[in-house]
Amino acid sequence: MKNLVLVGFMGSGKTAAGRLVAPRLGLKFVDMDDLIEQRQGRTIARIFSEQGEPFFRQLERDLVRELAAQQDLCIATGGGVVLDPGNLRAFERSGIVVCCWVDADTAYQRTKTARHRPLLETDTDRRARVAALLAQRAPLYRAIALQVDSSALTVEQQADALERLYRQRS
Ligand code: S3P
Repeated sequence: MKNLVLVGFMGSGKTAAGRLVAPRLGLKFVDMDDLIEQRQGRTIARIFSEQGEPFFRQLERDLVRELAAQQDLCIATGGGVVLDPGNLRAFERSGIVVCCWVDADTAYQRTKTARHRPLLETDTDRRARVAALLAQRAPLYRAIALQVDSSALTVEQQADALERLYRQRS
């Protein structure tokens, strides 16, 4: 079966909804950040602080290639996976790519207490940081053909929408 690849900004529900929908579709759930952390034996925050973002992006790129070569997966990607167009091309070949959209305010509300996302741990006001980063990446997320706007959805509703999309396309 084709992979279901969930792309989207931090706080867009990729992991939460992906975990719910995967077993309904008979897919194995994989969270890219979790897998990178397991293999590296350290958190994403530590990878960023010890070796920098470019090193993390290379790990991410390598993992995209590895997962895109497999089938039957529901993959929750990290929010920055869209920064490399090659990542999206590889995933498009391996299955159905869906962008989980989230508006800036909802993304802020959902991520404001978590401390594990290095790109949000800056001196800038966090709400402004979320809005700026989302605005910068929005064209990349918007370019993905299949979209589910998670902003007003519960995780359950988001999983239902993803399930419908996948069943229509597979
Ligand atoms: C990132 C998002 C994070 C993680 C890393 C970088 C990004 O994943 O990969 O902190 O660039 O948007 P989530 O989207 O799962 O939080």
